[in-house]
Amino acid sequence: MPTLKSYLTPDDLGKSLRRDVADGLTAFPKTLPPKWFYDERGSELFEEITRLEEYYPTRRERAILTERAAEIAALTGARTLLELGAGSGEKTRLLLDALGGTLTTYVPVDVSGDFLADASDRIASEYPSLSVQPIVADYERHLHQMPGGPRRLVAFLGGTIGNMTPAERVSFLAGLRATMGEDDALLIGADLVKAPHRLVRAYDDARGVTAEFNRNVLRVINRELDADFVVSRFEHVAIWDGAEERIEMRLRSTRAQTVRVGALDLVVEFAAGEEMRTEISAKFRRERFEEAATTAGLRIDRWWTDQDGDFVLSLVRPAL
Ligand code: AVJ
Repeated sequence: MPTLKSYLTPDDLGKSLRRDVADGLTAFPKTLPPKWFYDERGSELFEEITRLEEYYPTRRERAILTERAAEIAALTGARTLLELGAGSGEKTRLLLDALGGTLTTYVPVDVSGDFLADASDRIASEYPSLSVQPIVADYERHLHQMPGGPRRLVAFLGGTIGNMTPAERVSFLAGLRATMGEDDALLIGADLVKAPHRLVRAYDDARGVTAEFNRNVLRVINRELDADFVVSRFEHVAIWDGAEERIEMRLRSTRAQTVRVGALDLVVEFAAGEEMRTEISAKFRRERFEEAATTAGLRIDRWWTDQDGDFVLSLVRPAL
C-alpha cells in the first residue's frame, strides 16, 4: 500500500485553524474560510450535495471529463498526474483510465490524511502498475515541494478555484506556473456565470443539505477549539453578488448572542441578524478566467464546456 508523505503535521493544521478563527471572528464583517467545512461529516455532506438535483457542477464536470478524457490524454501524454485536493476518486478514475498508455505515477494531494490514505489505497489496488505517491499538504503553501519529472498533468477539479479571491487566484496560479516545465499542463474545472436563480438554488437546496454543510463549520470550531456555538441559532444564507459574479454563503445570527472560543480565550458578540461570510464561490466567464491565467504566465490551450455551457474544463499551459 502507498505510504503517505506529509508536509503538514496535525499541529500545523491546528495552528492555521486557530489563526483563521481568531482573525475571522474579530474582523468586521466576520468571516471564516471554507476549508474548515471538510471534517468527516462535512466531507459526507459535500458528497451528498454533489448528488442533489440542484447542484449541477459535479455532474457537468463529469460529463465533460467523460467526453474529453481521450483528448486530454492525447494532448498531454502525461506521465505523472498530480491531483490537487484529491476528490472522492470517480473523476480521477476517468483520467487514470484515459491516461493509461503513458501514465506511470499518480500523486494525490490533500490536507486530510485519513481521507487521502483511504482513497490512495483504493486506487493503488485498482491500478497495480501505477506508482501512487500521496502527499498530505496544503496546495496553497507546498506547491514547490511537489514531485517533478517530465510531462506532468496537474488537475485542479471541482470548481474549487472559485473559492479564491481574484488576488488569491492569481498568486495560486503564478505559484503553480513557477513549478511547471514547458511540457507540463494544468487541467482546471470552473463553474460559469449563468442565471442567478439557478446559482442560488445550487447553494440553497430544498432539503437543506447545503445549510447543514454551511453550519458544519461551527461544529468543527466547537469540537476543535472548545467553542460553544449554538448551531441552531445560525441560519444558512446564499446570495448572488452580481457585481463580483460570485455566490456568497453566510451564516446569519438569528438573535443577539455571545459565543466563547475556549482554546483562544475569545468572547465574540453577534448582533441579531448579523451575517458572517463562510464561502465565496466565483463563477467565471472566459475573459475573466483568461485574465487570471495570463497574469500568472499561463495560456488557455483548450476550453471545453458542457452542452448547456454551465461548467468549463480548461487545459492550461505555460505561456512561453
Ligand atoms: C467544492 C468549492 C467547488 O463552491 O461549489 C458546494 C463547495 N459549497 N456547496 C462550490 C460548495 C456549497 C464547492 N466547491
